[in-house]
Amino acid sequence: MIYLDNAATSCPKPSTVIAAVTRALAEVCASPGRGAYEPALEAGRILLKARRQLARLLSARDPSRVVFTLNATHGLNLALKGLLAEGDHVVVSSLEHNAVWRPLQSLVAKRGIRVSRVPCGQDGETDPADVIAAIRADTRLVALTHASNVLGTRLAVEEIGPAVREREKLFLVDAAQTAGSYPIDVEDWAVDLLAVPGHKGLLGPQGVGALYVGERARLETLVEGGTGGNSESAEQPQSLPDRYEAGTPNTPGIAGLSAGLDLILQEGPAEIGRREMVLADGLRRRLAEIDGVRLYGPGPGLGAAPVVPVLLPGMSSAEAAFILDRAYGIAVRSGLHCAPEAHRVAGTLNSGLVRFSLGYFNVQADVDAAVEAVSEIAAKTAARREGP
Ligand code: ALA
Repeated sequence: MIYLDNAATSCPKPSTVIAAVTRALAEVCASPGRGAYEPALEAGRILLKARRQLARLLSARDPSRVVFTLNATHGLNLALKGLLAEGDHVVVSSLEHNAVWRPLQSLVAKRGIRVSRVPCGQDGETDPADVIAAIRADTRLVALTHASNVLGTRLAVEEIGPAVREREKLFLVDAAQTAGSYPIDVEDWAVDLLAVPGHKGLLGPQGVGALYVGERARLETLVEGGTGGNSESAEQPQSLPDRYEAGTPNTPGIAGLSAGLDLILQEGPAEIGRREMVLADGLRRRLAEIDGVRLYGPGPGLGAAPVVPVLLPGMSSAEAAFILDRAYGIAVRSGLHCAPEAHRVAGTLNSGLVRFSLGYFNVQADVDAAVEAVSEIAAKTAARREGP
C-alpha cells in the first residue's frame, strides 16, 4: 500500500513506537501514580517523560500544564466546554473541523453562547485582520485551526495570538494538522489552549492526545474521578495535570507517543515539515499539469500543510478514491473530511475532494506513483468520454 492519508492518521508507525507500546504492556503493566512498587513508578516515569517532551514540542515552560487526552477532539471539547459560559462570544475561522464546530453548536443550544465565523477565500486564505476585527467586547475566545485538514491552508496564528492577548481574550489553537511538522511556540504566540493528537504527526498510537492549558485559562472539568492523590477530598484537585486527568491513563499509548516524540524532537518539526511540504508541493505541481484534474487550496509553494486536495475529471471523489485504492493500492481520503464549511468555501460540498496527505515516511516514489495513477485514470476517463 502507498499510504497518502496522513492527515487522518499517520501510518506506518515507527518500530520504536510499536516496541514502546509492547514494552509498556509486557513489562510495565501497572497504574501510574497509584503504587510505590517499581512497575507503577516506571509507568509514572513514562508519563513524566512524555509530558516533558510535549512541553518541549510546544515551547511550553511548565510541563504540568500539558494534560493527556484521548485525542485532539477530546482536548478541544475540554477546552470549549470547560471554558465557555452563558452569553460568551467565540470567533472561529471558516476552516474549523467538526471537532470545534460541533461542540460549539452544542454550546449554542445548551448555554446560549454566540459564534462568529470569519470568512475566507476559496483557497482558505484567511486575513488575520478579519479575525482580529471580529473580536467584540463580549468575546471570550478566539478558536482557530492552525491548518485546514481539507485545503492545507495555514492560518497566521503567530500574528493573531498576540493581538487576541492584547484585547484580553483567550486564544485556542487546534494543531491537529501541524503538531510534529511545524514548530509551535505557545509562549511567543500567546496561545492559552492548544490541542494535539498523538496519532498524526507525532507518530504515536491512536487513543492519545494532549491539551496545553495556559495559566490564563481556567477550565471546568469534563470528567471527575480518581487521580491517585488527595483521595480524602470529594472535590477534583485544582492542581494540573491531575484536575483534568481523572482515571487510569492510557500508559501504553503514552509510551508509544513518547517514542514518536523521540524521533520528532531529534529531527525537529521544521525539518520534518519541510520534507513533507516539498513532496506535497511537487505532487501539487505535477497533478496540476494533468488534463481535467482540478486542484484546490493554496497554489504552489511551501506555505501550506502537506495536503493536496483534488477532483478528478468525470467522477466523484469517492469513486476516485476507490479506484486509487483498488487499482493502484494508493490510500487517500475522499468526501468532506469532517470539515463541511471548508468544503463550502471551496465549492466542493456536493462533490467532496480527493485528499492526498503526506507524512513522515513518504518518499518521492510515493508521489511518482500517485501522479502516474491520476494520469492514467484521467486519460481513461477522457478516452471513455470521446468514445470509439
Ligand atoms: N480529521 C481527520 C482527517 O482530516 C480525521 O482526516
